[in-house]
Parts: sequence; structure tokens; C-alpha cells
Amino acid sequence: IINKKQKLYEIHLDSARYFFNALFQNKNKGYEYFKRRGLNDKTIKYFGLGYAYDNWDNLTKYLLSKGYKESELMESGLILEKKNKNGYIDRFRDRIIFPIFDVRGKVIGFGGRVLGDLIPKYLNSPETLIFNKRYNLYGLNFAKKYIQDETLIIVEGYMDVISLFQFGIKNVVASLGTALTKEQGKLIKRYANKVIMAYDSDEAGTKATLKGMNILKEVGLDVKILKFDEAKDPDEYIRKKGVNLFKKYLNQSVSLVQFKIDILKKDYNLDNAQEKVDFTKKVSKILKEIKSPIELEHYIKKISKETGISVNAIGSEVYGKYYNPRQFNQNETR
Ligand code: CTP
Ligand code: MN
Ligand code: MN
Ligand code: MN
Ligand code: MN
Repeated sequence: IINKKQKLYEIHLDSARYFFNALFQNKNKGYEYFKRRGLNDKTIKYFGLGYAYDNWDNLTKYLLSKGYKESELMESGLILEKKNKNGYIDRFRDRIIFPIFDVRGKVIGFGGRVLGDLIPKYLNSPETLIFNKRYNLYGLNFAKKYIQDETLIIVEGYMDVISLFQFGIKNVVASLGTALTKEQGKLIKRYANKVIMAYDSDEAGTKATLKGMNILKEVGLDVKILKFDEAKDPDEYIRKKGVNLFKKYLNQSVSLVQFKIDILKKDYNLDNAQEKVDFTKKVSKILKEIKSPIELEHYIKKISKETGISVNAIGSEVYGKYYNPRQFNQNETR
């Protein structure tokens, strides 16, 4: 097994070099694509980005010529057997390539994106002996050196990581498109104590945030959420608004409770009396999760201000019995 893994690492490294050279030496449409998306040469090199030729079996032939066996290449997931079983083709064709590294920096898989709008937009390596999606985070091998204030930022995609990195925000990883797993949470906990989730602003991103934040909390991380409406993801945001505004937003990232309240608020018109009541009742359910009395008081006051409903009423709704803020000071007032 160790030898098998070793062989797979070698195949991946050779393939990464092949894809990179295809992009960087030929400066073909793959290179043009990354340029169009604002990446400079330094970034392209740093992340080892590449291009898979618009050809059936360029990489297959190259790897066979290097002496790898067909069976080894099949195990790497980089080649596919033809339907009629007489030969092999490349898995990645006419796509830009993102090598995926493990935390030590070894190439363990690839993501390939179409240059246009074809579907599927991304194609990834299958699970292999050396590539288990649920145990890896894209970019952690780079980000681990730049963790500031114990904080790691989690984004959805390759381009988000790379783009933020180019703008100097380097403590970033991507969850590789999959829903965040417990294993990924544990991996993060080895390097950071706090995380900021900055997923896409669409519905899928919101759903993934709600799921992911619970997992991150469970493994003991302090979780904050960054949400923006002006762009669909961090890559687009930083390109549109600039790094300073992005950093400002980063500092204003919100707690899990606030994130849930904000989502809820979108469904209610607080100028309407009945909707205001319904909203406040629903918020009270969210507030029940809060364990810290200080945090709870903070939110109760905030909601009271926003709705005009008294602190006492909201507090009583949360506790399920009559609530008097003064009860916390009973010893002094008696
Ligand atoms: N992803 C994937 N397979 C797909 C779609 C997405 O593996 N069919 C993963 C990729 O890692 C991708 C991430 O999920 O980077 C986020 O997906 P999406 O937001 O759709 O793509 P972007 O990263 O925003 O890609 P781009 O900006 O290039 O359109
Ligand atoms: Mn997305
Ligand atoms: Mn997208
Ligand atoms: Mn994007
Ligand atoms: Mn996106």
C-alpha cells in the first residue's frame, strides 16, 4: 500500500507539472482565461495552475511514456477506460486545472474548470488511495503559515482562495464544494481556534453555511459569518469592491445567532403589526439556543429596539415564563 501511494504521488506530481507547463509555456487559452480573471503570473505559479489540452489522450500518452503502468494510471483517476475497452483517455480535457494539495503540500488530486459555461463547470478527481475529499481543505498547505489571530477564513471555491490570496488575505481555505465535514472541522481545529465562514451569497451558499457552522461549532471552533449582498462570492466581491472594504466586512462578520436572525428578518415586514409579532416569536426560538446570559441580554435588547416590543415580553417568550431583568440583581434590590 505504501508503494502504491508513493506511485500515486509521483503520478500526480508529474501530471501537475505537465498541466502547468501546458499553461505557462504555451500561454494558450488556459493562460488567457486566468489573466481574464485577474490572476498574475506570480499567483499562477504559486498555486501551480495548469491547463489540460483539448485532446483525447495527451496526458495518458505522456504518463505512459514516463513508464507508468495503465493499472497505476487507472488508480490515479487521471485516465478513463474507453467505452469499447480498447484504450484510455484523459479525464481532464480542455479545462483549466487546479492542483489540490494535502496539508504537507503534496499533490493529491485535481479540479478542472471549463473555460466557458459548459456543464459540469467543475470536474474533480475521484476518491483514490491518496485523495479523500472529506479529509482535505483546499489551500490549507499555504494558509497554515498565515493564520492570524488564530483565525482561518473558509470559502467555497478554488477561485475564492486564490483571489483573496493574491490580494494579500492568505489565511483562507476552501471546503472543496462538498458540504463541510466533521473531519474537515477537526483538521481546522488543529491549526486555528476561530473561523470566519465566507460562502457564496446565493441560496446554496446560505444553506451550506447553516449546515457547516454547526459542524464547526461542534468541534469547538469559535464561528463567525461573513455575508455580502453586493457580490456572489468573495472572489467577485474583492475584485469589485477592493481589499480594504473586504477587510472591513471581515471585521464586521457576525455571530451564528445574528446570521440566523438576519435570514429570518428577510421574510417579514416589520412595519406590519402582525408580522412584527410573528417575527419576534420566531426570533425568540433562536434566542433559546444562547447559553450566556450576557449574550442573551444583548440580543433581547437589540430585538426590542428593532420591534418596539418590550424587553420583558421578549425575555418571557424566550424563557417560557415571566421574565424580569431585575431578577438578576435581586440581592442588591431587596
Ligand atoms: N464545485 C465542484 N463541482 C461543481 C461545482 C462546484 O466541485 N460542479 C466546487 C469547486 O471547488 C468550486 C466550488 O465548489 O470552486 C464553488 O462552486 P461555485 O461557486 O459554483 O464556483 P466558483 O468557485 O465560484 O467558480 P467560478 O468563479 O469559476 O465560476
Ligand atoms: Mn457557489
Ligand atoms: Mn460561480
Ligand atoms: Mn466564483
Ligand atoms: Mn462561487
